[in-house]
Amino acid sequence: MRRLRLGPVAALILALPLLSQPLRGQGSTASPHGANSPSAANASAEQKAATAGYVGSEACQACHSDLYKSWENSPHWKTSLNTEEEPSHQGCEACHGPGSAHIAGGGDVSKIFVFKGRSAKEIDARCMSCHAGGPQHMMALNSIHAQNNVSCIDCHSPHHPESREGLLAKSQPELCYSCHLAQKSQFSMPFHHRVPEGLIQCTDCHNPHGTEHAKQLRMSSTLDAVCFKCHADVQGPFVYEHAPVKVEGCSSCHMVHGSPNPHLLKVSNVNLLCLQCHTASSIGFGAPGTPSFHSQATFFQACTLCHVQIHGSNFSSFFFK
Ligand code: HEC
Ligand code: HEC
Ligand code: HEC
Ligand code: HEC
Ligand code: HEC
Ligand code: HEC
Ligand code: HEC
Ligand code: HEC
Ligand code: HEC
Ligand code: HEC
Repeated sequence: MRRLRLGPVAALILALPLLSQPLRGQGSTASPHGANSPSAANASAEQKAATAGYVGSEACQACHSDLYKSWENSPHWKTSLNTEEEPSHQGCEACHGPGSAHIAGGGDVSKIFVFKGRSAKEIDARCMSCHAGGPQHMMALNSIHAQNNVSCIDCHSPHHPESREGLLAKSQPELCYSCHLAQKSQFSMPFHHRVPEGLIQCTDCHNPHGTEHAKQLRMSSTLDAVCFKCHADVQGPFVYEHAPVKVEGCSSCHMVHGSPNPHLLKVSNVNLLCLQCHTASSIGFGAPGTPSFHSQATFFQACTLCHVQIHGSNFSSFFFK
């Protein structure tokens, strides 16, 4: 067994991140962790419930040797180092629940937790009994995915991952495309963030486990902080801000995933973009009208030929430099 090859120090180091996680269930009665409510009064009753029917992963090896072998090489093997916790948080049974009745019944599938056909809520709660810690999964139980019955195992496969990194059922972006076809076509536009090429990932901007922001964006989309991680040069603050950049956000002018137009612009011609707001009658969000000497009839130049610092400037209120 692999555990025996580790020195006690190595074992302790491996176990540390585990011990620091909040390893408690949600108290649902369907869950094998359901008995682990943190009430001190029931401590001894809990102790009994926490060990009842648990047999340990080695007992599964006899009949499920392939799964046992792959589990041994997966990050979840580490749960068996966590001897501080009850058996309900170790090995196979941490996910499948107590196995003694299943074994006594010669592999009776009605006597063990099978994931197939379960609701996202039930599955998520089971995984979150260990993964609730840290900012990454703070919103997971109430994410847009969770609300739409997309569970942990729609994206993760503990036993048969295509990508060992993160135990993903499929690698990005195919994983996401398998449900988000419209986004696939956006990223195949002539101009796009290079997600299909693997330079950027969907998860650079989105957290599939949910966030407190719209569209599961990692950071607020109105402040567009999610963009500044990579585009610090347009962040400012500038002495002369171009109002829509800060007020309406990047997507008032850009199609973030992909666009048929250069610079991911929403319209094919820069001038048309500007003239959406800088109309002669000047009704667009208090934007000043384009001065008459700009007459497009006399010369056709891109507005940005003169107004070059379109995201804001420290030197010119007209964004000339
Ligand atoms: C005595 C042999 C035996 C042992 C030991 C055993 N199982 Fe099973 N298990 C089976 C058989 C047989 C099936 C039914 C397989 C089938 O229907 O395809 C099964 C099915 C399962 C299934 C459901 C598979 C599905 O989706 O249909 C799970 C989950 C499972 N076992 C987990 C475990 C766990 C966890 C342990 C250890 C606690 C364990 N088994 C120990 C024989 C065993
Ligand atoms: C991290 C949670 C987790 C752990 C730990 C785990 N399983 Fe599973 N198991 C699952 C999920 C989820 C499925 C459903 C299939 C899927 O989506 O990959 C599953 C499916 C199965 C199946 C059905 C057949 C199959 O290949 O999908 C069997 C049998 C099984 N597990 C046995 C075991 C055994 C034996 C162990 C320990 C060696 C174990 N599991 C450890 C989560 C887990
Ligand atoms: C819509 C797809 C999707 C769903 C649903 C999902 N995940 Fe993930 N998860 C990912 C992707 C993609 C990554 C790797 C990329 C990243 O976020 O950095 C990941 C990473 C992880 C990681 C490792 C990385 C880390 O930073 O912690 C864990 C653990 C994890 N997910 C657990 C869960 C659990 C538990 C659930 C269910 C509550 C869940 N995931 C639901 C797609 C998903
Ligand atoms: C008993 C606690 C426990 C349960 C239950 C559990 N996990 Fe884990 N999980 C862990 C531990 C511990 C690790 C290893 C963390 C590490 O390597 O730092 C891990 C690792 C992972 C990773 C890989 C993270 C990476 O960095 O590659 C994913 C993905 C993941 N778990 C998803 C799930 C899913 C999905 C479920 C439910 C089917 C689940 N886990 C159930 C404890 C658990
Ligand atoms: C199993 C199917 C499935 C997979 C896989 C999946 N999603 Fe989703 N996703 C959905 C559903 C269903 C919704 C909610 C309905 C909608 O808005 O389309 C959703 C919603 C979203 C939203 C919020 C949309 C909004 O309007 O607020 C984002 C962002 C998102 N998913 C990103 C991702 C990313 C990134 C991945 C890959 C890591 C991914 N999804 C993988 C099914 C999936
Ligand atoms: C460069 C950052 C970035 C990347 C990379 C990215 N997104 Fe988005 N995504 C956004 C922003 C910003 C929005 C909100 C756009 C808006 O409000 O107009 C969004 C919106 C969405 C929506 C909601 C759709 C809608 O019409 O409202 C979904 C679904 C989505 N993204 C999925 C994905 C998927 C899947 C991937 C990877 C294939 C991905 N995103 C990659 C930034 C990104
Ligand atoms: C993870 C890094 C990253 C994030 C986050 C990111 N971008 Fe980008 N972006 C890039 C890279 C790299 C390019 C270079 C173009 C390429 O892929 O060839 C680019 C290109 C662009 C371009 C086109 C530039 C040109 O000259 O054609 C625009 C516009 C843009 N990004 C806007 C945004 C917006 C808006 C956001 C936030 C919603 C955002 N980006 C978030 C990395 C990022
Ligand atoms: C008022 C419309 C508008 C808004 C709002 C806007 N942009 Fe732009 N952006 C443009 C135009 C027009 C260009 C093309 C400039 C050119 O032709 O030289 C551009 C070009 C870019 C480029 C590539 C060239 C460069 O300057 O680096 C990036 C990156 C970019 N924008 C990111 C962003 C980000 C991030 C946001 C949100 C913080 C944003 N933009 C908001 C109009 C806008
Ligand atoms: C979404 C609406 C919108 C778009 C699109 C837009 N602007 Fe603006 N623009 C504004 C607003 C609002 C102001 C701020 C007016 C104020 O500060 O009183 C402004 C201010 C300006 C100013 C400064 C005017 C002054 O008097 O200081 C210039 C120059 C300008 N925009 C040029 C452009 C150009 C060139 C484009 C196209 C690349 C463009 N704008 C696209 C809304 C927009
Ligand atoms: C040949 C250079 C040049 C081009 C091209 C150009 N502008 Fe200007 N723009 C100017 C100058 C010069 C001013 C006036 C500065 C001043 O008043 O001192 C100005 C001022 C403005 C103002 C501020 C008006 C006010 O009353 O505050 C707006 C808005 C504006 N331009 C929009 C546009 C738009 C939209 C386009 C494209 C259709 C464009 N500009 C193309 C040079 C140019």
